Amino acid sequence: MAGEFSAMISAKTSQVDRKIFSDEEIFREEQRRIFAKAWIFVGHESQIPNAGDYFLSRMGIDPVILVRDKSGSIGVFHNSCRHRGMRVCRYDAGNTRLFTCSYHGWSFGIDGKLVGVPGMKEGYCNKLDKSEWGLIPVAKIANYKGAIWATWDADAVSLEEYLGDMRYMLDLALDSHDGTEGGSEVSIGVQKWTIPSNWKLSAENFIGDLYHNISHRSVDMVGIGPEGTSQRRDEGFINNATLVSVGFHERGHGGINVYLPPEYVDARPYPGEIGEWFRAADKARKDRLGENACILGGVGTVFPNMSFRANQPRQIIVWNPVSATETEVWSWYLFDAKSPDSVKAFMREYALRYCGPAGMTERDDMENWQGATEGSVGGVVESFPYNYAYNLADDEQPFEALPNLPYAKNAVIGATEGNARGFYRQWSIWMDATNWDEIRREQMKIKGRI
Ligand code: FES
Repeated sequence: MAGEFSAMISAKTSQVDRKIFSDEEIFREEQRRIFAKAWIFVGHESQIPNAGDYFLSRMGIDPVILVRDKSGSIGVFHNSCRHRGMRVCRYDAGNTRLFTCSYHGWSFGIDGKLVGVPGMKEGYCNKLDKSEWGLIPVAKIANYKGAIWATWDADAVSLEEYLGDMRYMLDLALDSHDGTEGGSEVSIGVQKWTIPSNWKLSAENFIGDLYHNISHRSVDMVGIGPEGTSQRRDEGFINNATLVSVGFHERGHGGINVYLPPEYVDARPYPGEIGEWFRAADKARKDRLGENACILGGVGTVFPNMSFRANQPRQIIVWNPVSATETEVWSWYLFDAKSPDSVKAFMREYALRYCGPAGMTERDDMENWQGATEGSVGGVVESFPYNYAYNLADDEQPFEALPNLPYAKNAVIGATEGNARGFYRQWSIWMDATNWDEIRREQMKIKGRI
């Protein structure tokens, strides 16, 4: 498909037009063409365990309410009153029986139905059909191992098909540390902060930018990890870990895995009770997963704007677009629900030191993304594209150490910008397509590396 937006992404020369990081018209089109059609992560089920529990989330620029109803089902609704658009919920999270609009008083049940209208008799002669004026629901909701996703498009493929084999990488973030399915809970609360940069730069970084390690040298030099080093930088890890880029280009997802030979998997050097818990969990993981337990940690991005870190503390990060040059970052921290308080406290301390607006490592990246966004604005520079040609050959190197890994064929050992190239190719497909049929047709054409 050779459309207006495909022309901004050159598959041949691996160049990307810098206007896609700064142009407000393109930003508005992204809301209609991507965020109104894609599956978007909206929260974790552990945030709303009881009937009436709710959490305010975002799907692109649209505010949504994630809420559990009396039957235990989870609903996702646009957070705006059908009368004149006012937010019907003004709190970040809580428990309620009704969402009552503070403007003229319409009220909605936790199933989204309109249940109360002031002046129903005097103003509407009892003729307003309440069944037609409930909160706007999303078209589909899916729960994958506790992670809740939603889409506005009834024609969207299932979440399982949307994720494809990327779900095996996502499992590393959602499953318990010992390899049992699920069992994670959100801890600390959700950190939210604003960065003056385009949302795609962050998604691109987490999809597999192994090339940017120079940015984090200060972290290693200062030593912020448990033993005064970065996390898991013990000798066994440093000398034996292999970093692997994994791309699912036909869907726009990708990430980085760490491979560690079996003899080092449960040799984590943390002290005392913390170390005991990790070593026991790592051993149980080896027993449960066999050779696939050698895949550890890493980061990834699910197209378009959900990223994750799969090493401890596990983290889900959503890059909520605000404008072409502003992003609201939301960060969830996932701990094993059954881990002891001492381990949770250790993880909490580590998360706050490493991640988020005050964490040393993620702050490095935020400065990069801010600078890159500032460099994308302005009439003089807009005709100079960005270069995405690192490791252009990007040859697949089947993961010989783990031939049975479900995504072994998608591996590239070491750094490449192949995943970023795949991400922007996917972006151009979505931006030029008008419906899901067209998106699927273009995705099917992508074979191998881009
Ligand atoms: Fe909500 Fe009027 S805007 S009742």
